[in-house]
Amino acid sequence: MDVIYVIFVFIRLTCGTSPTYRIVSATSWITDPISLYPDFSASLTPLTFQPSIFQYSFHDASTVFTCVARNCSRVTMTPMPGLSVAQLAYGGVSPRRIHQQSPAIAGARFFLSIGYAKPNRDVEFIVCAAEDPTCAKPRVMNTVDSRGFGQGGLRLTFATAHGLPSMLIPEARYASRDNRVTGYHIETCQDPLCALPRSAASLPFNLTGTANCLGTSIDVAINRHGFPSWLTLCDEELNLIHCLTLQCNETLVNQFKVNRDFVYFVYLAVDSHFRFTIVTTGQTAQSDITYIRCVDPDCTESIQSQLTISNRPSPTRTPIGRVQVVINPLTDLPIFHLTGSIYPTDVPVYMFVICPDIECNMSEAVYVDYGVKFGLNRVQVNDLFVDDEGTVIASVRTTYKATNDTINVIVRMALSSEAEVEKLTFVEPVVI
Ligand SMILES: *[C@@H]1O[C@H](CO)[C@@H](O)[C@H](O)[C@H]1NC(C)=O
Ligand SMILES: *[C@@H]1O[C@H](CO)[C@@H](O)[C@H](O)[C@H]1NC(C)=O
Ligand SMILES: *[C@@H]1O[C@H](CO)[C@@H](O)[C@H](O)[C@H]1NC(C)=O
Ligand SMILES: *[C@@H]1O[C@H](CO)[C@@H](O)[C@H](O)[C@H]1NC(C)=O
Ligand SMILES: *[C@@H]1O[C@H](CO)[C@@H](O)[C@H](O)[C@H]1NC(C)=O
Repeated sequence: MDVIYVIFVFIRLTCGTSPTYRIVSATSWITDPISLYPDFSASLTPLTFQPSIFQYSFHDASTVFTCVARNCSRVTMTPMPGLSVAQLAYGGVSPRRIHQQSPAIAGARFFLSIGYAKPNRDVEFIVCAAEDPTCAKPRVMNTVDSRGFGQGGLRLTFATAHGLPSMLIPEARYASRDNRVTGYHIETCQDPLCALPRSAASLPFNLTGTANCLGTSIDVAINRHGFPSWLTLCDEELNLIHCLTLQCNETLVNQFKVNRDFVYFVYLAVDSHFRFTIVTTGQTAQSDITYIRCVDPDCTESIQSQLTISNRPSPTRTPIGRVQVVINPLTDLPIFHLTGSIYPTDVPVYMFVICPDIECNMSEAVYVDYGVKFGLNRVQVNDLFVDDEGTVIASVRTTYKATNDTINVIVRMALSSEAEVEKLTFVEPVVI
């Protein structure tokens, strides 16, 4: 065994390091102590794939931090005090992962707010013009009345095939005991900057007839028709809903069964052939990941399985709080990002899992673990992206163990033959 190991080391030394999945950059900066966890919205800039993090409040102004290069060796920050008219903090900003890119068209940027600019409870749609980078003069448009919890599920997407902003606005009522969502309002712009009147459609949340629906969906993805698809959970029914028209007045629903006691966050990704992948946490104390994979774009056939990561620290307790997924564009295969902490020691888990095949055989998967190495505490909030080169990007808000500072972190993982990055690089964001 030792001999084999020595030979192996010798080969590695003589031939250079073979490419393998590893951390290729890990950049961090200190941010104000934050108590509101939704005050964070990360995305990639369209075309250039630069990671960015939008923070509702940083030194009293909404601020966007942007990596100047993909590797985040420099970070700029742009305060946008004009956005203070809007109340964006409670999940409202979230562009969330439509093709993983931030909502920007020809330099204009888009936000959803929960409606404080005008004295009503309507969701507002905000456009910051390209020539107004600090958003001194936002254009604020009212959409629908969406009281209560539904704000947390606001989604702003881009029907990329048509290049038009499209909003997914849950309608909810505080009145009901546990904030059940009653319906969805979908508004789509008729032109890229949304100057023309928007089309609107209302959908019952329980399209399949089942009541007791919750807004568990984090993600929206673009389906083969070029329109949004998203997830709802109605009792044990996990529904993948596809808009079939621009107005979304026609839909297709794929149904899966899950144990809702184990479901909190659900993530969605789509491959180059518009086949959907859905993940959530494991459905038993023994499994870590629930994995659903559509075999065709309409998802007439699918695989659903429970995956257990190798070297699981404890057979009875799940260490995983959240499972996210992206599809590597170079392989069309899923890459998971697992976060949580191990009981009872409370060691934080930050782990990429690279699926070797469409079934995601966990004993052949590649595991890249980084939380302990970088001295990160338990995750507060995070998001996951992949760029056109297959680099997976985790954007994280947490505290740094060594100093207890609240930090934003951007960790990038890719197939590489460079030496793995072993520690966080702290940068000072530069105001522009
Ligand atoms: C980051 O990328 C820039 C531009 O591509 C390059 O000039 C710089 O050397 C890179 N920095 C690191 C630390 O890799
Ligand atoms: C759908 O949900 C609505 C609102 O919760 C409810 O009134 C209706 O009965 C549900 N439909 C069915 C068929 O359960
Ligand atoms: C959907 O809306 C379009 C455009 O208004 C209309 O032509 C079509 O008939 C509608 N479909 C349904 C099923 O209502
Ligand atoms: C997963 O990989 C292991 C190790 O190569 C193999 O023994 C096992 O049969 C595979 N499982 C499936 C379901 O293909
Ligand atoms: C960080 O905070 C924890 C809990 O308050 C404390 O136990 C620990 O000593 C602090 N560490 C540093 C480096 O200040």
